[in-house]
Amino acid sequence: MSGIFIGPGTASESAHEIDILLYILLGMAGFVVLLVFGLLILFSVRYRKGSSAPRGLLPRAISHEIELGWTSATLFLFIFIFAWAATTQVSALNQAPNAMEIHVQAKQWMWKVQQPNGAREINALHVPVNIPVHLIMVSQDVIHSFYVPALRMKHDVVPGRLNELWFTADKVGTYALRCAEYCGTNHSFMLGEVTVMQPDAYSRWAAAQPEGDNLAEEGQGLFVSLGCAGCHAAASRVHAPSLDNLYGRQVPLADGRFVTADEGYIRDSILQPRRDVVAGFQPIMPSFKGVVSEGQLQSLVAYIRSLGAEGASP
Ligand code: CUA
Repeated sequence: MSGIFIGPGTASESAHEIDILLYILLGMAGFVVLLVFGLLILFSVRYRKGSSAPRGLLPRAISHEIELGWTSATLFLFIFIFAWAATTQVSALNQAPNAMEIHVQAKQWMWKVQQPNGAREINALHVPVNIPVHLIMVSQDVIHSFYVPALRMKHDVVPGRLNELWFTADKVGTYALRCAEYCGTNHSFMLGEVTVMQPDAYSRWAAAQPEGDNLAEEGQGLFVSLGCAGCHAAASRVHAPSLDNLYGRQVPLADGRFVTADEGYIRDSILQPRRDVVAGFQPIMPSFKGVVSEGQLQSLVAYIRSLGAEGASP
């Protein structure tokens, strides 16, 4: 079923599910409209002024049992539809293990993409078909919204936080990428294309892109130039937590809680270092909020990830 009502076609499993839901809801709404208007017309004729149609009380079975029956049937039907729709939506946030990670930066007015091998794109996103993709998105300025109609996928990219999305495209082709949040004068020009390719074609494409430092390499440079290494390096005299093998680990905090050192935690620790202080350490690290840009933050996080054994950055 390729978008009969919606132009862009479908390019993922969840897009098909969302379409089926849409058609079912449309069908139900259409049925109710026909029923209501049909009865409206029927009753207008039947009970017109002067007609001899009976106007007494309804039989008890209709006014009680049938009334109760259809009311509860509708209730359960809608609870079922809600649960179905909610699961479809939530599955778009399901973390696929071993998904390919692609970093996206939204800014007025373009989409900047960085592939796992460091290749950069502007207003374009190339992905292999049938391979789960994990988008890690940040905004450098205002709220944008990453919208790919063919994937039935839309996610706000809110500045100051990490925005994540998982998808698996299942059809080769080129699809529209849009910004779906009014983000300033040239919002309507914030257009791009998502290109879904066969895995070998994708590999060839990625290899043919101009060499760029990947995020982790960039992050390593920043780690030194921003002075992080001064405290966090193994040989440092300042007592700061070691970042080796940090990624993915459970970290004990000063207040007794444990957190998982994921992208979000590392990011927060750079911006709000005094919030989740590691057990046994003093809250002496300054905040890097406003010091590092969103892009630099992505690189730093990628570098710290790459120090970890588990899920090391590509
Ligand atoms: Cu970015 Cu609208």
